[in-house]
Amino acid sequence: MNQVAELTTSVLNVLAPTLRGLLGAADRLAVVTTDTTELARSVTAAVAGRKLAADAGLTPDQIGHAGSFPLVLELAADADVAQATTAAVMNFREQHGTDPIIVVLPGQAVLAAGADLAAARTALAAFLENREAPEHHRPPVTSGAAGRMSGKVVMVTGAAQGFGLGIATELLAQDATVVLADLNIELARQQAAELAATYGHGRAVAVRVDVSDEHSQLAAVAEVVALFGGLDVFISNAGVLRADGVMTQPVADFDLVTAVNYRGYFLGVRAVAPVLAAQHAARPQVWSDIIEINSKSGLEGSKRNFAYAGSKFGGIGLTQSFALELVEYGIKVNAICPGNYLDGPLWTDPERGLFVQYLRAGKVPGATTVAEVRSFYESKVPIGRGCLPSDLAKAVYYVVDQQYETGQAVPVTGGQNMLN
Ligand SMILES: NC(=O)c1ccc[n+]([C@@H]2O[C@H](COP(=O)([O-])OP(=O)(O)OC[C@H]3O[C@@H](n4cnc5c(N)ncnc54)[C@H](O)[C@@H]3O)[C@@H](O)[C@H]2O)c1
Repeated sequence: MNQVAELTTSVLNVLAPTLRGLLGAADRLAVVTTDTTELARSVTAAVAGRKLAADAGLTPDQIGHAGSFPLVLELAADADVAQATTAAVMNFREQHGTDPIIVVLPGQAVLAAGADLAAARTALAAFLENREAPEHHRPPVTSGAAGRMSGKVVMVTGAAQGFGLGIATELLAQDATVVLADLNIELARQQAAELAATYGHGRAVAVRVDVSDEHSQLAAVAEVVALFGGLDVFISNAGVLRADGVMTQPVADFDLVTAVNYRGYFLGVRAVAPVLAAQHAARPQVWSDIIEINSKSGLEGSKRNFAYAGSKFGGIGLTQSFALELVEYGIKVNAICPGNYLDGPLWTDPERGLFVQYLRAGKVPGATTVAEVRSFYESKVPIGRGCLPSDLAKAVYYVVDQQYETGQAVPVTGGQNMLN
């Protein structure tokens, strides 16, 4: 067997998003899943290193399944991956009058396209098992009537619990596919398994990420690209809060809040933007979204909570600047600024939640119970209640649907913060 170099992340990060665009429908991208297992490499190794007709080395069933031929793509080491992939797909269309479902990189990988992960996996398994694929995955991508987030792959950081999990759940109910990215991978996996049991296999997956770590962000995005070919909406939601006075806050606490909330947002955008740009280059009419879950503390200073407020104000500066820079790649960038999620774990955790912390610290004058602390915070909201994930999901639909806005900070505070 010829020795074939491994498929690198830098090649796949262009190849898969380009295929998502090329093999998508008018208004949505395909899911393109990649298999680099020993089986995939050995099935395709037979055609490695040879000049090929599109079907050489593959069995008749693999060639003919579901009426489709595989596209065999041999990328030279110095190839412009997007250009070579586009040319190969154009050529395939001319020859076969249709789009490929299976793309073979001889000895390296098999990629399969579908409307969603389940369809792509079905095609992939059929190809690898050398049998006819069921008809239902053909055509690969259609724009059928469905929920507001239909066809969108949404990656949410900090989604093992709280707002992130709530937003992911809301978007799933609107037919999105969601990636729960979190440092707490055990909890993220458990939540993804529960959501997948309700909404379907492959509709919710978990990936590990430490948003404050450059390499971890890149690895998480590479995992998403290998699974789905890319993503449509990146929600930078992971955040931490360490409240203290400026004369007493440990520097390490300030650094942690800054590293997760501010630096983490930059590192996430840095990791996903090239993938979103490659998709857009392949299908310019489809745009993507980056959304930062910011805070009302990004719009107004917060007493004895300056590290958090500073990181969130900084997030608005990043949002506006990213929006200006990334518009040419078809990427909108907006922040959503929630009020307090008084029913969420950040507030209600019986040990470390903000209700008990504020009660112990005497932050609410006269309050002697958690219930009194809670009603104090509710009374500050004109609409009279805390913010819910369903409130945030409506803001997500707005910024995603909107084709004529970017760089905004959308308050969702029940009237507590009003823009000038
Ligand atoms: N809860 C609120 O009242 C409120 C109000 C306004 C804005 N927000 C913002 O909403 C976002 C979510 O807050 P929440 O209340 O749901 O928080 P939460 O504490 O309930 O959940 C945060 C999640 O982020 C994860 N996380 C923490 N550090 C991480 C890291 N380095 N890498 C990856 N994941 C990490 C945690 O494991 C957890 O699952 C935050 O950005 C927060 O600032 C929250």
